[in-house]
Amino acid sequence: MPVIRILREKESPALFKNLVIGACLHITTETANLVITLKKCGAEVYLTASNPLSTQDDVAACLVKHYGISVFGIKGENTSTYSRHIKEVASKNVHLVIDDGADLIVFLHNNRSLSKNVIGATEETTTGITRIKNIEKDGRLLFPVIGVNEALTKYMFDNRYGTGQSTIDGILRATNTLIAGKTVVVCGYGWCGRGIAKNLKGLGANVIVTEVSPLRALEAVMDGFRVLPVEEAACCGDIFITATGNAKVISGNVFDRMKDGVILANAGHFNVEIDVEILQKMAKKISEVKPLVKEFTLKTGKRIYLLAEGRLVNLGCAEGHPSSVMDMSFAGQFLSLKYFVENPGLTAKYHKVPDEIDNRIALLKLNSMGIKIDALTPYQKKYLNSWNLE
Ligand SMILES: NC(=O)c1ccc[n+]([C@@H]2O[C@H](COP(=O)([O-])OP(=O)(O)OC[C@H]3O[C@@H](n4cnc5c(N)ncnc54)[C@H](O)[C@@H]3O)[C@@H](O)[C@H]2O)c1
Repeated sequence: MPVIRILREKESPALFKNLVIGACLHITTETANLVITLKKCGAEVYLTASNPLSTQDDVAACLVKHYGISVFGIKGENTSTYSRHIKEVASKNVHLVIDDGADLIVFLHNNRSLSKNVIGATEETTTGITRIKNIEKDGRLLFPVIGVNEALTKYMFDNRYGTGQSTIDGILRATNTLIAGKTVVVCGYGWCGRGIAKNLKGLGANVIVTEVSPLRALEAVMDGFRVLPVEEAACCGDIFITATGNAKVISGNVFDRMKDGVILANAGHFNVEIDVEILQKMAKKISEVKPLVKEFTLKTGKRIYLLAEGRLVNLGCAEGHPSSVMDMSFAGQFLSLKYFVENPGLTAKYHKVPDEIDNRIALLKLNSMGIKIDALTPYQKKYLNSWNLE
């Protein structure tokens, strides 16, 4: 993670002095790199998991033992332990919050006395931003939030290339299925869905996209994919992947029409996209054929395989995104936190990542890759700023 390394080496070791940072993130090696960097810049950091299945226990243990960072998270923790861990971090009188999915931010809003020191929060993912914008819409946002996900150096790379690759990695590690020749239904053609569909196509899959947005559906068509309503796609698919940020995208009527032996995986933030409750009700037998691969045998005898309990497959069954892409996402986190420190008194509303942060990250990344680009000449600058071309 060269960009994070540069920030760790170049930024002041006193940048976050006397500040407590509460982070709710997937506990992976990349997150470890971020929190170690925040500590190196003076912060007192508390880390809790942003998903019950994504914690890498060795990483959590290493942070506690070798870096003195308090970590709350165990892979496979139940939902009450997950919530208790969020409460632990929320109770540390935090000044800055980093969130992925907004569970910590929402907890602080539901327990206002714990948020009195908060000067700002950052949000990592699309679903978290949807929730924060909904809090703002209700007029209840208590502190400023910067939507790191909406930085170009985040969603164009992390969501598209990161999720695009690691989702398939998770499915392959869990099933070792051959993608070539399979029909794969990708629900949602947003930044994640686009990346997943493109990579599947490259591996030889016949990809069907389902969408609710006419624009995104049209884009999928022009990108060469077949677009169908999910109920029609149900009977064609061998593998189904959800990446919508929405709930009950695959539910009873869709399960009913599926073929025997299909695989279901979710790449969206919460475990709500595949209706597991209904699937459980429809099953006469449920067995775990290998860790995080559940076989549901329906009353008709048809078998459906669910990966990672319907939670994020790339973090449940694999290790999440490659570090080179998290390098940019977490640089956005670091620099947005720095922005709060340098711009005290921001209003309690949703803020975009400033352009200068996006540009700095892109430039640092290119430099780290040894790639040079051109600069505008004075003539070109003048030309681009003029309108009368005579
Ligand atoms: N797995 C990961 O590591 C990872 C990484 C980044 C984002 N995410 C999560 O993935 C989800 C998608 O993120 P994104 O950035 O692609 O969002 P996005 O908003 O760019 O795309 C979501 C798409 O889903 C479509 N959609 C909504 N409801 C639908 C439905 N019922 N059927 C079909 N399509 C539907 C929307 O029209 C939209 O085009 C979010 O939950 C986000 O938080 C996961």
